[in-house]
Amino acid sequence: DEHLTDEQLLADPVDRIVAVGGTRHPSIPLPGDLFMPQRPNSQGLDLEDWRVLKRVKEGIAGRSGIGPEPEPVTDVAPLVDRAARAFPGWSGLPIEDRAACMIRLADLLEERRGELMALAVHEANKTIPDALAEVREAIDFCRYYAGEAVEKLQPVELPGPTGESNILRMEGRGVWTCIAPWNFPLAIFTGQVAAALVTGNTVIAKPAPQTPRIAAEAVRLAHLAGVPEDALILVPGGPTVGAALTGDPRIAGVAFTGSTPTAKKIAQSLLEGDDRPIVPLIAETGGVNAMIVDSTALAEQVVADVLLSAFGSAGQRCSALRLLLVQEEVAEHMIQMLTGAMDALIVGDPADPATDVGPVIDDAAYDKLMTHRAAMKDRWVKTLEVPEKGRFVPPTLIRLDSMDDLKTEWFGPLLHVATWKSGKLEETVQRVNAKGFGLTMGLHSRIARGSELVEARARVGNLYVNRSMIGAIVGSQPFGGEGLSGTGPKAGGPHYLPRFCAERVTSIDT
Ligand code: SER
Repeated sequence: DEHLTDEQLLADPVDRIVAVGGTRHPSIPLPGDLFMPQRPNSQGLDLEDWRVLKRVKEGIAGRSGIGPEPEPVTDVAPLVDRAARAFPGWSGLPIEDRAACMIRLADLLEERRGELMALAVHEANKTIPDALAEVREAIDFCRYYAGEAVEKLQPVELPGPTGESNILRMEGRGVWTCIAPWNFPLAIFTGQVAAALVTGNTVIAKPAPQTPRIAAEAVRLAHLAGVPEDALILVPGGPTVGAALTGDPRIAGVAFTGSTPTAKKIAQSLLEGDDRPIVPLIAETGGVNAMIVDSTALAEQVVADVLLSAFGSAGQRCSALRLLLVQEEVAEHMIQMLTGAMDALIVGDPADPATDVGPVIDDAAYDKLMTHRAAMKDRWVKTLEVPEKGRFVPPTLIRLDSMDDLKTEWFGPLLHVATWKSGKLEETVQRVNAKGFGLTMGLHSRIARGSELVEARARVGNLYVNRSMIGAIVGSQPFGGEGLSGTGPKAGGPHYLPRFCAERVTSIDT
């Protein structure tokens, strides 16, 4: 049986683990590879390991290590109490101890990747390659933030006149609420939680209602890794639970990934109450993401990158391509190549390793996307046949008269295409900016002047040139947007952790 027990998972000395809730918090030696390598280690994980594949298959059949769905919570107040009581102990630990828990969690996630991938396929309709990327990203977040915390959050002595000492400390703020989306139910969930925990906060973590089980498994592993039970509390539930959490005046900060309207509601609710402290909100929302293609672009490369960016993950990434903008002179050729290539996409069961595009997350998403698609019927350039049973939205290419006609994000495999005129590159970028979102933008061009201009004008968090515009790598492509796309902090980047901290200075006349 390849399914490891918890005891086997924890085979190496248990005393490496911070005593849960106890008085003994041994300082844990850090593994030598803690500091960021060029690329996070887990990029080396692959599917070759037959044991992992076997566990994915077992998991898909519903047999392997997958717990029941956690019950939604109704009363959050006692949970916030518990997290608040755990704060002094957890925040008082040396940074190295909290970081060591994150490293240990990364190891456990790696060990359990078969089950976690199975959950991602089951709960979130992820394809198998996407499920692997999901687990890798979660592991990368843990290792990256552990390294960042140990390296960058140490107390700093600042200059002053003789006889004065000035020490700047980065400390946890209190109880953080982390609210994760269903489209990255492990990666973003774990990333938010790891950042909040390693900086010394205790955490109330609310997964999306569609994906509670994979989150429950991540929390279980975090507890096994040494995070005290009350320092990380899973709170499954929907918008009512979310509102109760962000409405609780004891919450010291919120990390949220989801829709723009929900982010705005959270921002509003955090301001309510005269006595309520002013607390930070880290919000990452969606985008009407464009890719600009000029006449020098390599058509084959454009087609491959468009397919992946628009239809990969069934278009259910906030980074996904929504609006393809092709220079007029090459538009017909490019569209023809693209429609031909779309025929090769395999739409079907996400548990089949050959599948490129799976079903969308739920009936509400399906209905919304299908309604928009039907409304645009006379504008279809290409659409695909899909299996009849299941929530399969046919990947569809929709032609617009003007790039200004697309104003909202359609979170699925629907790609809109429009053209722009030679000499109007700058205006094109400005018109994309004018939509108000600022998450990702793509550019395909072989002219340096073009990419310099787009780089200078684009108001987006992530600009991708001559490549796909999805799949940001932790530590290499810090991810997050501006404007309607979010408050700006970049997950997986070197400036992220301080957003979770209170900065305190002590000045002493000696
Ligand atoms: N981080 C994901 C990507 O880069 C989107 O959330 O595709």
